[in-house]
Amino acid sequence: MSTLIKGGTVIGPTGPYPADVLVDGETIAAIFAPGRAPDGPDVIDATGKYVIPGAIDAHTHMQMPFGGTEASDTFDTGTRAAAIGGTTTIIDFAIQRYGEVVQDGLAAWHAKTADQCHIDYGFHMIVGGVDDDSLKAMDQLVASEGITSFKLFMAYPGVFYSDDGQILRAMQKARDNGALIMMHAENGPAIDVLVKQALERGETDPVFHGLTRPQELEAEATSRAIWLASVAADCPLYIVHLSASKALEQVKAARDLGRNVFAETCPQYLYLTLEDQLGAPGFDGAKWVCSTPLRSKHESHRADLWQGLRTNDLSVVSTDHCPFCMKDQKEMGIGDFSKIPNGIGSVEHRVDLLYQGVVDGKLSLARWVETIATTPARMFGMYPRKGIIAPGSDADIVLYDPNGRTRISVETHHMNMDYSAWEGWEIDGKVDTVLSRGEVIASGGEYTGRAGRGKYVPRGLSDYLV
Ligand code: URP
Ligand code: ZN
Ligand code: ZN
Repeated sequence: MSTLIKGGTVIGPTGPYPADVLVDGETIAAIFAPGRAPDGPDVIDATGKYVIPGAIDAHTHMQMPFGGTEASDTFDTGTRAAAIGGTTTIIDFAIQRYGEVVQDGLAAWHAKTADQCHIDYGFHMIVGGVDDDSLKAMDQLVASEGITSFKLFMAYPGVFYSDDGQILRAMQKARDNGALIMMHAENGPAIDVLVKQALERGETDPVFHGLTRPQELEAEATSRAIWLASVAADCPLYIVHLSASKALEQVKAARDLGRNVFAETCPQYLYLTLEDQLGAPGFDGAKWVCSTPLRSKHESHRADLWQGLRTNDLSVVSTDHCPFCMKDQKEMGIGDFSKIPNGIGSVEHRVDLLYQGVVDGKLSLARWVETIATTPARMFGMYPRKGIIAPGSDADIVLYDPNGRTRISVETHHMNMDYSAWEGWEIDGKVDTVLSRGEVIASGGEYTGRAGRGKYVPRGLSDYLV
């Protein structure tokens, strides 16, 4: 069946242009100058709307076992919320813990996602125990499983932590097989000392989560990861959830040298702060406990991150969607901030929150689309199947209404969370219609998708390397 998306403004890599987009089955068949498309197909009227590629959230943790509990969005609830918010592909993290077989971890994630996802999905692999077996498994995942990116942790000793020798070995392996190393760059052992000292002083409130993870320990780990990647013959490196100015400086310095060093940030670091959210009275700040933490509003982090997005020192905006409810989950940390499960849920709101950056004059329309769709597709080996409005690409398309308005609230969101990290936020723009592989799954506030329609996307190697 053919459908013509007519009268809209397509946002491409070079900026906006008026065009009609012909969808045939699951793919984009053609792009016509206005008025040049043949008559015949059903028409979706896109007058006054932006026509953008379905967004790709390259960092989610649906139903992730973490912090003594499990992230509250299932693949069903989380991908449905993502779809409603204009995201048509997620890349979630399958997990191997120390002592487990990598392929078993992957099989567990395939089992969790089977018949559950509303949109297409891929996996990165968390390697929580780098050893001879897991290194060999990395080759197999790249060659046969469509998994071409591996996350390592310099944080969380005793959970996912890798020491420098393990990191170097994994980077050497990635250098050989073409994969990308994704790094949680915080100095975990040093943070653990600060956490213990804070608790001994009776500093138990959520704000101390942030105060015991100073930006220096993110910058130091970022720098160390960059140097280790250099020792591993310039293994491609992608820093996840970058939150702080000093960490960004490390990435920028490496990129200025032409290195294959990339970074993402997340909406929470662009907008929220240690004082206003994490430091909220009582236990309320627990809503915003995540790692890396929110940073001080008295420093230049947020302005620097927006600037980094403009200059491509930050290439991607992901959510790091890792939701927990206050009740029974975040509450585990009453009286001890270190027991609050780490994570924020925003998978439904990333497209809108970044569009607000366009409205505020911080990002161009082209850069909005690049950071939420095109670059994630290229970075993680899904381009040009995903991430672009082009003939032959999957018809993952969002009609975005710049004259609409989005009000975010726990009362109206679709994520499985009993609060919103963005309660009361108003955005100048609105997701109007969402197509996933040619099927309209959301339109005018009505959701018509279904669990199980999303397909696993085996990914190729990154085509973003210099
Ligand atoms: O707080 C966070 N980021 N939780 C999810 C796990 C991770 O480190 O990405
Ligand atoms: Zn992380
Ligand atoms: Zn994460």
